[in-house]
Amino acid sequence: MQKLIIEGGRRLKGELALQGSKNSSLPILAASLLCMDECVIRNCPELTDVYAAARILNCVGCRCTFSDNTAVIDPRTVSGTVIPGNLMREMRSSIIFMGAMLGRTGECTVSVPGGCELGPRPIDMHLAAMRKMGVDITETGGSIVCRSRGGRAKGAKLSLAFPSVGATENIILCAVTAEGETVVNNAAREPEICDLCGFLRACGADISGDGESRIAIKGKEKLCGCEYSVMPDRIAGATYLCMTAAAGGEMILSRACTAEMEPFLSALEQTGCSIFTSGDRIYLRSGSRLRAVRDRIRTMPHPGFPTDAQAVLMAALATADGTSVFEENIFDCRYRHTEALIKMGADIQVLGKVAIVRGVPRLHGAPAEATDLRGGAAMICAALAAEGTSEISRISHIDRGYEKIEEAVTALGGRISRV
Ligand code: UD1
Repeated sequence: MQKLIIEGGRRLKGELALQGSKNSSLPILAASLLCMDECVIRNCPELTDVYAAARILNCVGCRCTFSDNTAVIDPRTVSGTVIPGNLMREMRSSIIFMGAMLGRTGECTVSVPGGCELGPRPIDMHLAAMRKMGVDITETGGSIVCRSRGGRAKGAKLSLAFPSVGATENIILCAVTAEGETVVNNAAREPEICDLCGFLRACGADISGDGESRIAIKGKEKLCGCEYSVMPDRIAGATYLCMTAAAGGEMILSRACTAEMEPFLSALEQTGCSIFTSGDRIYLRSGSRLRAVRDRIRTMPHPGFPTDAQAVLMAALATADGTSVFEENIFDCRYRHTEALIKMGADIQVLGKVAIVRGVPRLHGAPAEATDLRGGAAMICAALAAEGTSEISRISHIDRGYEKIEEAVTALGGRISRV
């Protein structure tokens, strides 16, 4: 089992080009299944979750090769309809292959990835939407067998109880080749949804309203292949900015999606960091000590503050002057990183969905176990700010979402090694 060893207490300084988005790459890789020609997907980050998606594509008969952050997929040879449980379990978001498989073949057998590190992750909204689109679904012994009546899903008017990112993606994937029009009300508005729709439009899909609450999709008989470049990863971007904010110093984040990062940047700015954006570059300078954020940091669907950036901002605020309050509104179990931060000397009190962070003058290095992807990233932020050495284990969580994290931290002047 690999570990990351981090020597903290050094100011950071450097420039970093942001990786491509994990949360865009996964649905876009799934979407390539719908095409009748080769797809070339650039700026795809080299991550274990992305490799897991490639294995699913291989398993259903697609050739998928990967080099220099470019995935080349040949979906003409799709033959299977079953995604085995072991592949489904490798990655929680494997469920988005359901919509894509239904769109391509009219049927699929998948399984529910069990409860995860963020708490239970139900898929009731996904299943209810597919059923409304004329898909018969039977659940037996952990398998979910889906079959579109008449071999092709039907357009439907749908309204989501909550703007779920995954459910919105699954509906879009199923609807682009369905018969007739699908309308999704209360759709998720995350930038990664727009990126998925950008890819699908490049393949000939007819989609409008992505980025807004009402998305309309007119089904097409066939989609062609295309070349597409995945958007930058706004959460990895938030993480590297939080590292520098926490440790002190200055950095330039290039190839960033500045507009899409605005909800995060406006919260970070309240800590007293100087932040300037120009085109696709973000400059950040962090003075001697951050200020606590006065307004409660409430995680909300986009364009609210992103739940995925909650842990890393909390790590930065652990040593701020004053008390910051977080409210986690998306996942039930998203404060598991607080235990490790407390071990490093942070003063954090969790009361249900609220976490009260009283800034301490300094943190100290400590051994810590990554609890989940973003929680693990928060531990790296805290370790870089802390006096002394930290050893972070269970880093397979971190490798799911951060490309070559040691190289990135080293580019910022941090001391980190993998053993
Ligand atoms: C995606 C992101 C994840 C991010 C999350 C919220 C990917 C690969 N992952 O996850 O990084 O943290 O959006 O921005 O893009 N829910 C239900 N029933 C459902 C579906 C969801 O109750 O059928 C609940 C979930 O349990 C959760 C909330 O809705 O409490 C939000 O989940 P959702 O937006 O679906 O997140 P994911 O798509 O899983």
